Amino acid sequence: MKHLVTAGLLGAMIAAGSVMPMAANADEMMDNETVETRQMLMDGIGGAMGTLGCYLKGQCDLPDPVVRNLANGIAFAATAAPNAFEPKTMDASVKTTADEKIWSDWDGFANRFPELKKAALAMASVAGDKAAMGAAMGDLGKNCKGCHDEYRTK
Ligand code: HEC
Repeated sequence: MKHLVTAGLLGAMIAAGSVMPMAANADEMMDNETVETRQMLMDGIGGAMGTLGCYLKGQCDLPDPVVRNLANGIAFAATAAPNAFEPKTMDASVKTTADEKIWSDWDGFANRFPELKKAALAMASVAGDKAAMGAAMGDLGKNCKGCHDEYRTK
């Protein structure tokens, strides 16, 4: 009886699309997790940039140490990024916009992260000085766009 109930519940969950297909193998699950981890890392960077943008536009007021920590958070994410991107996720079934070129041109890709880190630390060092931060924001943004244009699928 218990088995029947479990099977029925599982069937309903699969029908509702909330469970991965039974064929999901270990490689697929691992690759999906890798993709999701690097996307969260990027979302963290994106969130920090959004908050810095809000501050620079005068739409949110933040104490200098918070502003500095946001920039340092981007620098930290840039440090962690190469490891997060290194596994080539051939078996991932979750949506990813990571382009094949990341791995065929690994050095070109990975070497961009120290640049991102440098730009983020430059931002941290002028936290609170809005004029200097505006220029630092421009530099940071170029790093995002440069890499996205080259290493992300549309
Ligand atoms: C060295 C390359 C590189 C740099 C620099 C970079 N990104 Fe990314 N970013 C990527 C790649 C590759 C993806 C796609 C990840 C995936 O879908 O697996 C991505 C995805 C994202 C995403 C979407 C994540 C999701 O949930 O799908 C956001 C948001 C993002 N980046 C923000 C930023 C911002 C903001 C910056 C600059 C401050 C930045 N990135 C700098 C390579 C980079």
